[in-house]
Amino acid sequence: MSSSRSFTPLSREVVDAHGPWFQNFHIDGIQTAPGHPLGNYPDAYFQRFAHAFPADLTGWSVLEIGCNAGFYAFEMKRRGAAHVVAIDSEPLYLRQARLLADRFGLDVEFQERSVYDIGGLGQRFDLVLFMGVLYHLRHPLLALDLLRQHAVRRRLVFQSMLRGSPAQTAWALDYPFADRTPFDNPAWPRLHFVEHRYAGDSSNWWIPNTACAEAMLRSAGFTVIDRPDQEVFVCAPAEDAVRHPLPRALEDGRA
Ligand SMILES: C[S@@+](CC[C@H](N)C(=O)[O-])C[C@H]1O[C@@H](n2cnc3c(N)ncnc32)[C@H](O)[C@@H]1O
Repeated sequence: MSSSRSFTPLSREVVDAHGPWFQNFHIDGIQTAPGHPLGNYPDAYFQRFAHAFPADLTGWSVLEIGCNAGFYAFEMKRRGAAHVVAIDSEPLYLRQARLLADRFGLDVEFQERSVYDIGGLGQRFDLVLFMGVLYHLRHPLLALDLLRQHAVRRRLVFQSMLRGSPAQTAWALDYPFADRTPFDNPAWPRLHFVEHRYAGDSSNWWIPNTACAEAMLRSAGFTVIDRPDQEVFVCAPAEDAVRHPLPRALEDGRA
């Protein structure tokens, strides 16, 4: 059955008026961000781990955090997700996302909202995507704690830029005060603080190495169940108690 929905093709003028764009879409013979430093991003990148998402998301609710122009939210909607909510703290990107949702005819609920305010959504989601956002946050562990407490019901797909050693080593549960050797090991979980800029971007605050990304996820109460690509972690809520539960004020959404 062919769709009778009519749409107005996007023009270069409309696309440019909604810029600057971070995500590159090919639409109506136009590319939104043809000069992206990572090439045809995020589509080319997504192809590396697209298989990690269920091909059929019928019946799943999905939340994307830091959705930008909506690439992943649209992909999840195309897989049949029942309800897709996508949030970003930057109004410019949400205007781009709404323009594209309208052009694609995809029913995605976009909201201007920070990850720190996800408690205000008042619901959990079967699948939460948290991709390319952690290193932009001044308070990355708080964000992961909030995801665990308020948002993730079945799966979290987490992605972060990673720097430093990719090694994963088994560590002891404790070390004597006088033992400094673990800290000299590049594989020790490490979160690199960016005081000024990294890659010309002053919104980069903390960049983990691989071991640190995994350790932070575990500490926030997630179990990593798959690594479909080097920077991508598929997680489930851990069965056991969260090691560092949020203070009561945060659980109540008062902080
Ligand atoms: C590097 S882009 C990643 C976009 C997309 N998730 C992807 O992987 O292509 C980071 C996005 O996170 C958003 N962002 C930054 N801080 C945020 C916050 N506190 N809450 C929600 N979104 C945030 C930015 O506006 C931007 O759209």
